[in-house]
Amino acid sequence: MQHEIVIIALDEHLPIANKIADRLSAKILSVDLRIFNDGESKININNNIEDKYCIILHSTHPPVDQHFMQLFMMIHKCNQDGAANICAIIPYFGYARQDKSFIPGELVTIDLIGKILEYLKLNKLVTVDIHNPDSLKFKMNTINLSAIPYLANYALHKLNLDYPIVVSPDKGGEHRAKEFAKILGTETISLLKSRDKHTGNVSVSLQDSLILSKKDIIIVDDMISTGNTIIKTSEILKSRDVNKIYVMCTHALLLNDTATKLQNAGITEIISTNSIPNNFSKVDLSELFINYITKDIDSVIAK
Ligand code: R5P
Repeated sequence: MQHEIVIIALDEHLPIANKIADRLSAKILSVDLRIFNDGESKININNNIEDKYCIILHSTHPPVDQHFMQLFMMIHKCNQDGAANICAIIPYFGYARQDKSFIPGELVTIDLIGKILEYLKLNKLVTVDIHNPDSLKFKMNTINLSAIPYLANYALHKLNLDYPIVVSPDKGGEHRAKEFAKILGTETISLLKSRDKHTGNVSVSLQDSLILSKKDIIIVDDMISTGNTIIKTSEILKSRDVNKIYVMCTHALLLNDTATKLQNAGITEIISTNSIPNNFSKVDLSELFINYITKDIDSVIAK
């Protein structure tokens, strides 16, 4: 039997949700959300969900715990109301950096999130440029999509770059920088980054022999949170007399005054996707999700 697909999203994600719904000829079910004075969320999906294929679109950016709670509520409501299947598209997946026990006693919190999603009987999880794809070892169908081609194509067509160099702030992000540079037809360099396991302080270093003078730089990272990684990286690059420095990332958390700090540090422009909608989200992820869903619809709607 063919079930009807419905897209469930809060207002903040309606720009992406509407495009997905248009392409799939699906109905949008908007969610009424109330946040009480004590911080509790209450959701209302006042629509018939029974026997529907539900696609929930919801990022878990700050306030991370509140957004996760809202996600859990939406999944639970779909199950309670007899959904045929539930797929959660979580463009930004919070807690992804808590994927290891860095010091004795630390909880690997992403595993707990996985357990909750399993308990809630989520059928499919779709996310984008998660910090460590290996951390998605949940007992459900998961996929980590890459926004790098979309970011790189933006750089190629919208930025006026002269022989740019693509920079990864650490070895862990080298594969992203390489994928990006391939689309631009240029080279990459990776810095060496270390983070104090107790204080979280970051230090970065760069091989001495590289000549970067007058080059345009694109720093590519999965996310900008406090901006410390980017500031340290740009300090080193500026000491090598580079030209413009662009920062392109999938997830721009940009906590507190991070955007201003980056501008004051001489960053020419910050460009991110709309995994977290804000003033810097210039690269739309709708096509990424639509391409994935339409190519792999069987997995999106599979139990
Ligand atoms: C870390 O390995 C990530 O790839 C990012 O570089 C990091 O999480 C960014 O955080 P922040 O902006 O706080 O330095």
